Amino acid sequence: MSFRVVHLKTEYVVNPLGLDESKPRLFWRLESEKRGTVQSAYRVLVSSSREALDRDEGDQWDSGKVVSASSIQVVYGGKPLQSEGQYFWKVQAWDGEGNPSGWSETAYWTMGLLDRGEWKAGWIGRKTEANVVMQPSPHVRKSFGIAGKVKRATAYATALGLYELRVNGEKVGDLFAPGFTDYDKRVQVQTYDVTPLVREGENAVGAVLGDGWYCGTVGFLGSKVYGERPFFLLQLHIELEDGTKQIVKTDSTWRTARGPILYSDMIKGEAYDARLELAGWDRPGFDDSGWEQPDVRPGYNGLLTASIEPPVRITETRRPISVRRTDAGTFIYDMGQNMVGWTEVKVRGARGAKITLSHAEMLNPDGSLYLDNLRVAVQQDHYILKGEGEERYEPRFTFHGFRYVELIGYPGEADLDTIVGKVVHSDTPRTGRLETNDAMVNRLYSNIVWGQRGNFLSVPTDCPQRDERLGWTGDAQIFARTASYNMDVSRFFTKFMWDMIDAQQPSGAFTDVAPDAGWIRHKMWNTRLNWFAPDNAGWGDAGVVIPWTLYLMYGDTRILETHYGAMVRWVEYLKANSDELVRPSYANYGDWLSIDADTPNEVLATAYFAYSAKLLSRIAGVLGEKRDEAHYDGLFRDIAAAFRRAFVDAEGRIHGATQTVYVLALQFGLLEGEQRDAAIRHLVDDIRGRGDRLSTGFLGVGYLLPALTDSGRLDVAYALLTQEAFPSWMYSIKHGATTIWERWDGWTEHNGFQTPSMNSFNHYSLGSVGEWMFRYMAGIETDPDRPGFRHAIVRPQPGGRLTEAKAEYESLYGVVSTDWKLSPDGAFRLAVRVPAGATATVVVPGSGARVDGEPANAAASPTGWTLAWQTEAAATFEIGSGEYVFESVIGAAAFAR
Ligand code: BGC
Repeated sequence: MSFRVVHLKTEYVVNPLGLDESKPRLFWRLESEKRGTVQSAYRVLVSSSREALDRDEGDQWDSGKVVSASSIQVVYGGKPLQSEGQYFWKVQAWDGEGNPSGWSETAYWTMGLLDRGEWKAGWIGRKTEANVVMQPSPHVRKSFGIAGKVKRATAYATALGLYELRVNGEKVGDLFAPGFTDYDKRVQVQTYDVTPLVREGENAVGAVLGDGWYCGTVGFLGSKVYGERPFFLLQLHIELEDGTKQIVKTDSTWRTARGPILYSDMIKGEAYDARLELAGWDRPGFDDSGWEQPDVRPGYNGLLTASIEPPVRITETRRPISVRRTDAGTFIYDMGQNMVGWTEVKVRGARGAKITLSHAEMLNPDGSLYLDNLRVAVQQDHYILKGEGEERYEPRFTFHGFRYVELIGYPGEADLDTIVGKVVHSDTPRTGRLETNDAMVNRLYSNIVWGQRGNFLSVPTDCPQRDERLGWTGDAQIFARTASYNMDVSRFFTKFMWDMIDAQQPSGAFTDVAPDAGWIRHKMWNTRLNWFAPDNAGWGDAGVVIPWTLYLMYGDTRILETHYGAMVRWVEYLKANSDELVRPSYANYGDWLSIDADTPNEVLATAYFAYSAKLLSRIAGVLGEKRDEAHYDGLFRDIAAAFRRAFVDAEGRIHGATQTVYVLALQFGLLEGEQRDAAIRHLVDDIRGRGDRLSTGFLGVGYLLPALTDSGRLDVAYALLTQEAFPSWMYSIKHGATTIWERWDGWTEHNGFQTPSMNSFNHYSLGSVGEWMFRYMAGIETDPDRPGFRHAIVRPQPGGRLTEAKAEYESLYGVVSTDWKLSPDGAFRLAVRVPAGATATVVVPGSGARVDGEPANAAASPTGWTLAWQTEAAATFEIGSGEYVFESVIGAAAFAR
């Protein structure tokens, strides 16, 4: 059959476990060989058993045949879902001609423990050892019997701190669970299906606990931010074939001991003494009579919520590209890529010998590791050998940002096989790819992706190496759109929004860091930091920008509904703290790390205030809040007018006259008529005056190329993209960058390294140009009125030295792709792909457009496309799903635009 329903997901995930959404959303994709495939109707069946579903019985929900094109974000509309319920579902769809597909394959989800009263387990930990600053990682365990055949076994686990769960000797789950949240407010619960791991007879369950963000070092905020030591909470629910139920839970009957991990800290590294390994501790039959009784914490007042964030995993293992022996007898490895994660080492040697793995992003001129930018972070792991043949070691509750590894104290001659690098991050599946004819542009794109891989670790961190690694909201919002092209960040940012909500101040201010981890308190107490305020323009606005981004990219209206009140409070807060709608100059990082161009705080803050109000109006519109839509649109217009009165002079010069002030005013729609033209002129003059260089910092950079392109200066946009002189993206690449640097001048020929107190070589903010690459260069854009790429706007814009670009984005409907080539004679060829269930408007630059080799003729009756209109400069088509090839000739006239 040619029309199929595939790729079922629930809450963005294939077969998720332990949800706590009372109305989960369902997603599927259509597949068809035919062009122009649409869905005219669907029917969903949800059953409480696979058998019932196989009989086509929707005992939970039978949607009936629903006339609808929706195949994403379809809200479950059946009977109330039960705690621990298992739900099996499938879909049938009808195409545009009314032909039905067959039933899809069966998908499922399960619900977690929905009622707090169902939690009977106690939080267990191990008492702190006296006079030890960095505490060893506790092991906790329990043996238990099962009297019959197991039908289903589910583990619900979480920790204040980190845990690694083990069942009968097997590791269960992923890394750094339960993830970083404001532990005073909530902790995420992970659900695992452990049915294959438990059996009739004796069983063992255990966990190793880490300090993590709960009591280990959190950025520069010190340690023990939330608590003194880690605690673990587990309930293992076992159902036997005969219907008997059994619950194994953490309580005082468990046992605890220290093990080989002497300490393990996110920021300070790990020390591991293999002589202290507890062989077999996680298996049945282990004698734990010498272990201590755990200490049970009275309770926990925060929320226990189903884990939303994608698990952190090792997503790649990399071999070093070179190794060099130093005069001191150590070995320095080059991994060939600035990466985040850790090193695994293989070693043979005497019992008690100690080796150290030290990590750094750069080398000093003398070839030694550049450690100065780590501040108080210690990117070192120490391993003490047990002396039993080949030993392998990798750390557990720490991570490092590095390209170079120094192996110290290694017994013997280390070579390229001695270590491997493990790349670790939140496993957000890759959705975007982009390649051009230009190797440097490709490297830039690669660096952007590596910046994301290095910094999306439970929260969007600013950097992965120094004592920071915090969820800076400004960085996150400016990069959010780029991030969402590169990878599926639906759940990652859904989780981060909760972090922002948990940090939102009673005043309505969204914070600059989330989870806040005591930062606000710290700022308020520290007189030196008195000039910091709770809100920061371009940072707090993440609370509006991120939900809006999820709406655009995934058609997610629930995130808008859920946080609508919080967004309103943010905008009202800004309004209350402004003077006739002009925001004050306090409270700003400004256009952070701009270069020789200081944007006045009040200009930036007023521009962002307008932007938040404008987005809020659009959000209100999406939610059908008509009055609010009009109200906030009015507010936006008033702020824009106030902006013009306060900051724009008669020549259209904007106060501060930086590239950023013009770019923000243009992109946020703050100017009118003449002023727009003047702004573009001033912007271009500034860029030209600097020799085609940019000066924007974190906030301006994301809008720079879009503003130029939207204003008809694609030529200038390309000139900046491929500029190789300082400051530019390509400057860092010319000097070997494999990630995006924090600062344009992180390292320069004229000054060497920037001040070590703030010089990360892995910060993604300046990589927000990735958004322009997808939306403008490759021309893959979503229509805000039919979001989630239900309708794509395909409008590639060739220019500069680029003659070829191809990109794809895997939307919820499937892959949208473009692939263009511009020949020296002006012949332009564009291949476009649109997934079934979606449509697109395609704007082909140039004249004489052809489709699939035939002249584009409005009168023809083509398959899948129609010519909407045509001018000298471009032809516009409406197309359905499928693959198409467009051709045109781009002449000098078209180029001049
Ligand atoms: C962080 C940035 C952050 C900034 C705010 C820095 O320390 O690394 O990414 O946005 O502080 O000022």
